[in-house]
Amino acid sequence: MKKAKVVIGKDFKVGEVDKRIYGSFIEQWGRAVYGGIYEPGHPNANEKGFRQDVINLVKELQVPIVRYPGGNFLSGYKWEDGIGPKESRPRRLDLAWFTTETNQVGTNEFVDWAKYADTEVMMAVNLGTRGAEEARTLVEYCNHPGGTYWSDLRKSHGYKEPHKIKTWCLGNEMDGPWQICKKTAEEYGRVAHETAKVMKWVDPDIELVACGSSSSAMPTFAQWEATVLEHTYEHVDYLSLHTYYRNDENGTANFLARSMDMDNFIKSVVSICDYIKAKTRSKKDMYLSFDEWNVWYMTPSHTYERWSIAPSINENIYDLQDALVVGCMLITLLKHADRVKMACMAQLINTIAPIMTETGGVSWRNTIFYPYLHASIYGRGTVLNAVIDSPKYDSKDFCDVPYLESTVVFNEEKDELTLFAVNRDLEDSMLMEVDLRDFQGYKLVEHIVLEHEDMKATNTKENPLNVVPHNKGNTSIEDGTAQILLNKLSWNVIRLAK
Ligand code: AHR
Repeated sequence: MKKAKVVIGKDFKVGEVDKRIYGSFIEQWGRAVYGGIYEPGHPNANEKGFRQDVINLVKELQVPIVRYPGGNFLSGYKWEDGIGPKESRPRRLDLAWFTTETNQVGTNEFVDWAKYADTEVMMAVNLGTRGAEEARTLVEYCNHPGGTYWSDLRKSHGYKEPHKIKTWCLGNEMDGPWQICKKTAEEYGRVAHETAKVMKWVDPDIELVACGSSSSAMPTFAQWEATVLEHTYEHVDYLSLHTYYRNDENGTANFLARSMDMDNFIKSVVSICDYIKAKTRSKKDMYLSFDEWNVWYMTPSHTYERWSIAPSINENIYDLQDALVVGCMLITLLKHADRVKMACMAQLINTIAPIMTETGGVSWRNTIFYPYLHASIYGRGTVLNAVIDSPKYDSKDFCDVPYLESTVVFNEEKDELTLFAVNRDLEDSMLMEVDLRDFQGYKLVEHIVLEHEDMKATNTKENPLNVVPHNKGNTSIEDGTAQILLNKLSWNVIRLAK
């Protein structure tokens, strides 16, 4: 059996976990909104047409923040279409996904939904077809107390109190040729700067996220970040990162190593931010918003009817391997808790999501729900700088991939220590030995495991409990050392407390 060693100390810290790293994303896309969160007439719909079964699942995940309304959809969106009486809202062609948007859910409905789901809204403004004027008026509509055209319009729509939306994204993936009105880094940098300025003039309490590259694979990656930050460094608070992985022809061992790419991506973006900080003689640090990340198997647009309303798009049914990669990605985000302050699993309902629904029917948990759940509820506190010594392997695209992917979160308030661990090994169990000398007297609370004899096992509407965690993991603690058995291809959460 392979063996890995981990040493941790109370004083060796990466940083405080900002709970917003457990954020998610709902785009006006496919059945995320219509048939996902909103389905008037569904037996579980509440008085506003929102599905209570879905709200309960979102609450179970304790999602702290949800990005809205896009995504690619954002770059053609007129937010004014989605306010006021529902019967007079226009239907529009959505050129991002070639569907028809009915606008029955807009800004106010989403704010209502967020309240039901106990979450915060991360609002995004369209910098594709639109600009500073439409962005600043949206801030005024949402956040200004009253006495002006836009804030009084909100009041006339039944929302007397301002929404007080704190976090705002300046556009979406503006470097992507697929974007409605993509921009060069210079063009976007200028627009983002001016838009940021006027949005903050309307409400100085807001925080802003500038668009980084759509992914590190973009040809413009790195230079895009540098140019955009040169224009915006003093006006924004975060820079965005996006990445998606899938299990391709290079195989599972390679797929499981993909989080190493995410790790490199974060390190590179941190370096670029710090370079611009130095270059502009700035005193502030730039933080990262990893506001789109997940596993994604893309289905092409010809698989649904063009201009249809809320068709089923990219409703990925994930397997155990996907859940393990999601687990590794969550661990990677935690390892960068000092710089990554927000992150959004993309997305939340139906489209590439942990929560699935049947229109008119049931809802269930995709496999990726579980690592997300465990990290969100147990991964709050301080990330410790664990020294990990693990056996390694090489895969098609990666060298020296540790079989053990792991991190540790210490919750001082609750006196709880949580170890997250993935065993990437396809064949063997592994013994993980953790030196707990700094955590004398800590006892095992539980060892949760997500595993399955078939790595392609999924949860479906018909069989929703096929891949579920159990808490019969094998951990013992003796003489200040924890001996933790990690079964092959498993996600593990080991909870210790005084
Ligand atoms: O999350 C799905 C899509 O992926 C988003 O609309 C877009 O921003 C990204 O390309």
